Amino acid sequence: MRLNKYIAHAGIASRRKADELTINGNVKINGVAMRQPGYDVKPGDVVEVNGVTVRRQEKSEYVLLNKPTGYITSVRDDKDRPVVTELTADVDARLFPVGRLDYNTSGLLLLTNDGDLAYQLTHPKHQVPKTYRALVAGVLSKEKLARLRKGVDIGGFITSPAQVRVIRQNPRSALVEITIHEGKNRQVRKMFAAVGNRVQELQRIAIGELYLGRLKEGHYRKLTRDEIQYLKSL
Ligand code: URA
Repeated sequence: MRLNKYIAHAGIASRRKADELTINGNVKINGVAMRQPGYDVKPGDVVEVNGVTVRRQEKSEYVLLNKPTGYITSVRDDKDRPVVTELTADVDARLFPVGRLDYNTSGLLLLTNDGDLAYQLTHPKHQVPKTYRALVAGVLSKEKLARLRKGVDIGGFITSPAQVRVIRQNPRSALVEITIHEGKNRQVRKMFAAVGNRVQELQRIAIGELYLGRLKEGHYRKLTRDEIQYLKSL
């Protein structure tokens, strides 16, 4: 966004006045005077006018990403691995992920700049059910399914009842749909490990009634007004 527009949107000055302030050296970008009103403000730039940091009045944005494996659910990574926000970089807002998916998990990830909604959705008190499709090694016997449905010990924590449905079973692996009601770290992988089946592939396909659908991996779409309303009502 052009610097003069950025300053105007923040309610500091009109665009024309912003241009004047900029040309006169009253505006800094990342601590350095910037005298070009046409400068393109990048995400992460710190803009100061007369020594005061200007926060952008951002519109709330709600994005549903089909996260590929091999991406960290974060806005940055110390080790310089790919992060999910790289895939939504052309959304003009400082988005952050709502909750997280493992590096090796793909599927539905919400990103927003609406801190209130993110807080609401990730608060342990009102966990929204999340549905995953898991490819697991080996056979899932009736007994194992019953244990998963009832709740298993994943290292000091007993999971609450889960919905589990086998989509396909062959002698080497099973494709399973599982809906869980908590968001413990690596919960699905730990649940299957607890009954002796290793998760080979994991994809999140739904958060509550919000579905991944046919969105391609690495692609995102903005939520509809109804979907945003739905999330806020949870
Ligand atoms: N459960 C997992 O084990 N991994 C995820 O990424 C999400 C849920």
